[in-house]
Amino acid sequence: MTSSTTFIDRTANHVRAVLSGDGTGHDWWHVYRVWKMAQRIGQAEKVDPLVVELAALLHDIADWKLHDGDSTVGPQMARDWLNTLGLDPGITEHICQIIANISFKGTRVEQPTLTLEGKVVQDADRLDAMGAIGIARAFAYGGAKGQAIYDPACKPTEHRTAEAYLKGGPTINHFCEKLLLLKDRMNTVTGKAIAEGRHQFMEGYLRRFYEEWEGG
Ligand code: ADP
Ligand code: NI
Repeated sequence: MTSSTTFIDRTANHVRAVLSGDGTGHDWWHVYRVWKMAQRIGQAEKVDPLVVELAALLHDIADWKLHDGDSTVGPQMARDWLNTLGLDPGITEHICQIIANISFKGTRVEQPTLTLEGKVVQDADRLDAMGAIGIARAFAYGGAKGQAIYDPACKPTEHRTAEAYLKGGPTINHFCEKLLLLKDRMNTVTGKAIAEGRHQFMEGYLRRFYEEWEGG
């Protein structure tokens, strides 16, 4: 019988090979951090650890933003991989459903309901968009997309559709449009506690940013 550890190790190796070389913040090390954080958050919840770990590992195998807004590519690539492992079809279905539903698509875009395992992975993914690493990832993403760092004339907006969110703007706007909202959107008690510290760090960073912009 194949053990959970083998499924997880094989999946980690597969994802690492597929994502190596990404420069948009959706690289293997993002996945690695989400995987470790999902394990940590999952320990405090009654979850199926195999589903949490495989969904965390496969959640960005093909991000919709990097595939012309197509959100079917990721779940399909995950399914193709999971089918090679010979998992119980119910588990594969659950993991693909999580991958299809966890991504943030705009402030005013409604989020689908998630299972507990989905909530854990979503919290882990969101935490990696916050704090010191979240700041680094935002500027890496903005640079890859050719966005300005900041433009005082360009105000942040609330995106009502995924298409509008995809367009982007100056990276500093992304803090108001998404990153500072995440703390109040966490699903789990553990996730909320970790988000609090990361949120405060981003607020301090932004205060310094605006100060320095004006010669402070
Ligand atoms: P999710 O992980 O929920 O799919 P995203 O893919 O939207 O979230 O975000 C992944 C990373 O890309 C995050 O670190 C996020 O801050 C960054 N990112 C997404 N859109 C932008 C943007 N317009 N400007 C800067 N960074 C962005
Ligand atoms: Ni992610």
